[in-house]
Amino acid sequence: MNVHPETERIELSLLLEAVHLKYGYDFRNYSMAHLKRRIEHRLSLSGFASISMLQHAVLHDEAMFRIFLQDLSINVSEMFRDPSFYKALRDEILPMLGTYPSFKIWHAGCSAGQEVYSMAILLHEAGMRDRGQIYATDFNRAILKQAQEAAFPLAQLKDYTAKYQQAGGENSFADYYTANNKRALLRPFLKERIFFSEHNLVTDGVFGEMHLVVCRNVLIYFDRELQDRVVGLFVDSLCPGGFLCLGSKESLKFSRHADKFEPVREKEKIFRKRRDA
Ligand SMILES: C[S@@+](CC[C@H](N)C(=O)[O-])C[C@H]1O[C@@H](n2cnc3c(N)ncnc32)[C@H](O)[C@@H]1O
Repeated sequence: MNVHPETERIELSLLLEAVHLKYGYDFRNYSMAHLKRRIEHRLSLSGFASISMLQHAVLHDEAMFRIFLQDLSINVSEMFRDPSFYKALRDEILPMLGTYPSFKIWHAGCSAGQEVYSMAILLHEAGMRDRGQIYATDFNRAILKQAQEAAFPLAQLKDYTAKYQQAGGENSFADYYTANNKRALLRPFLKERIFFSEHNLVTDGVFGEMHLVVCRNVLIYFDRELQDRVVGLFVDSLCPGGFLCLGSKESLKFSRHADKFEPVREKEKIFRKRRDA
């Protein structure tokens, strides 16, 4: 069915309003391109003829809402994703963090934990694991549960091993997991000092006194206004001189908060909060 673009825009905004009112999840400032792509995908899978039909289903059936939530939460991630970023963390940022007697790290939008466990390995190899606390958050309850299991499909190990080595890994990656016939289970010591919790960047508050915030490949799903709000949340969560790491396609260039940071490694999207910010 061909829907007039204006009608589609109205249906979309009614759907987001309904989800917000009924379930408290606020997608109204997600990027339009992302919303349209994911909703079209759901319409074609479910056979709904219009966004209004999807809205009816989401409102009246919580199971359908959970599916909708999963649709909007893209969970693609990898261990040591962008190895040069992890190499920069290892070579430049961890030595600075190591000057603090203790430090706190927040992984916001941590998905199934690949990024968090990569950090745990870096801290372990730097001999800093006991001094750091890692807070790992996501708004998707199902993916957080998976993150806590610390298990990954065997098929991904070849890629993770290569990336670990490119990121300057000091050991054999195989030292960090045991494999059964389907999955690799990360060694339990890597989970120590990691606290997983549900946190929605749109509606929840600050995590105080962080020395490092890692929020990679999450802001790309938000519109400019929401990106600004979330970067503001990071400004308030970071201690003076704290570090902020974004994804390779993300930037502070157009942010209202750009002047509160200085680039540390611009190419790797690593910034430092100015002491006077
Ligand atoms: C593409 S993954 C990025 C995972 C990891 N940071 C990385 O770069 O590999 C995006 C994650 O952001 C989460 N996310 C999306 N909107 C969120 C929100 N409002 N609050 C918290 N997490 C959110 C999704 O559930 C998903 O796990």
